[in-house]
Amino acid sequence: MSSTDPLLPPHDKQRTLTGITTTGTPHLGNYVGAIRPAIESSRRADNLSFYFLADLHALIKTQTPENIHQSSQEIAATWLALGLDVNNAIFYRQSDVTEIPELCWLLTCMAAKGLMNRGHAYKTAVQANQEANEDPDSGITMGLYSYPILMAADILMFNADKVPVGKDQIQHVEMARDIAARFNHHFGEHFTLPQAVVDDNMAVLQGLDGRKMSKSYHNTIPLFLPEKQLKKHINKIKTNLLEPGEPKDPDTSTVFQIWQAFANEEQTATMRQAFVEGIAWGEAKKKLFELINETIGESREHYFSLMEKPDYIENVLQQGAKKARAYSIPLLANLREAVGIRAFSA
Ligand code: TRP
Repeated sequence: MSSTDPLLPPHDKQRTLTGITTTGTPHLGNYVGAIRPAIESSRRADNLSFYFLADLHALIKTQTPENIHQSSQEIAATWLALGLDVNNAIFYRQSDVTEIPELCWLLTCMAAKGLMNRGHAYKTAVQANQEANEDPDSGITMGLYSYPILMAADILMFNADKVPVGKDQIQHVEMARDIAARFNHHFGEHFTLPQAVVDDNMAVLQGLDGRKMSKSYHNTIPLFLPEKQLKKHINKIKTNLLEPGEPKDPDTSTVFQIWQAFANEEQTATMRQAFVEGIAWGEAKKKLFELINETIGESREHYFSLMEKPDYIENVLQQGAKKARAYSIPLLANLREAVGIRAFSA
């Protein structure tokens, strides 16, 4: 087993790993669904967390260099501002760990093409082409097609045990298991088989229009906005036409749903009661603004000051890359040896 290899750091704690694709600006949905739980887990002493900016993945989705660059900085500043424990967790940029793309190639040679044919991102793109009467592969890059292999490399590079993801990513973690098992079968037990962890209670936040908050729907509320802008966004949340004094249904309301994601139990109960008693939409939104503003206010200050210090962020990421490479360099050396890529001299 790789874990008993004297060259590799000991695998004495459960390892959790997750990547954040660097497109777009972090929003409240990202915060509640992914960032907040990850930061909590970064502080646990019995767990070793790996978090990284998946900028190589971002290249699949955007060809605008400024977009990737800006988004990477915003995401890094966001995680740091919210208190990610970078002494306990390992926080790095995917592209700084150059062993990852090399591992990706070793895995590409172990990944069945048929497995990739079943990838849902690829299948969705093919289907859209067919519906538009285009060539099925029109506009589809090999990056999109083999995206799950790069993701497998991210995970297997650090022998992660647990991979917290949204439901849409479960398939990719299963593909990573498949590829790892095939590699192990051919070349010896180098990889831990990772498991996807999907929190069924995890809040999937609704966006301005009531659909899932997602940058692809253009319905997000960015996490760190100047106060005035935050207020403006919250005021844009879609509501029905019920007047003040008319009872409102909390369970179908986006305002209430977001409230619940930030409130404690008591605050949630109080707001539920206020809905039943017919709180005005304007009032409910004002309260929601105050709650969010209070919750994230301090981190927001920190965020804006970090955004002014790109050198500081860079330094944190370089420290993280150094720690990450203490794992990836020896593992990749073993893998090269295992597949027969070896120096002639002893
Ligand atoms: N594909 C993931 C997403 O779009 C991001 C990601 C890249 C990732 N590599 C990963 C997640 C490895 C978990 C593990 O959300």
